[in-house]
Amino acid sequence: MTSARLLVLNGPNLGSLGRREPEIYGADTLADIEAALGVRASALGIELRCAQSNHEGVLVDLLEEERDRADGCILNGAGLAHTSVPLHDAVRGFGHPVIEVHLSNVHAREPFRHTMLTAAACRGVICGLGAHGYLLALEALARIIDTERRP
Ligand code: DQA
Repeated sequence: MTSARLLVLNGPNLGSLGRREPEIYGADTLADIEAALGVRASALGIELRCAQSNHEGVLVDLLEEERDRADGCILNGAGLAHTSVPLHDAVRGFGHPVIEVHLSNVHAREPFRHTMLTAAACRGVICGLGAHGYLLALEALARIIDTERRP
């Protein structure tokens, strides 16, 4: 594909992956996930900007900041996926395809995780496939961007 840039945005508590409830979220750290994405992205000719924040406003700022630079986004808003109208609005305002990823199958967990506010603003959602979900989201975005760029 021709060159593209993607924002990889991770929300609250995902900086602790690897140590945080590994029986639910797996043993990979966020650095492991970002490294694996980086390898696949370079093979696809895609530039990545990876960021993690525990703060809703910072995630909103990053989506705003990347609106004129990035071609898409992989988003794991973590707990904010279930609660955040501002993040939903920021995804809509971003204006490029966003794939939401959750490591765990949120639909098979507590009822409060079944509310999906940001997913409603996303092109697609991948959940329950662990760290591999991020790589699948990368492949999906590469294909979407390529297809939508064709005349
Ligand atoms: C999560 C699922 C959310 O419900 C939870 O709050 C997280 C992680 C996931 O990747 O499975 O922090 O987004």
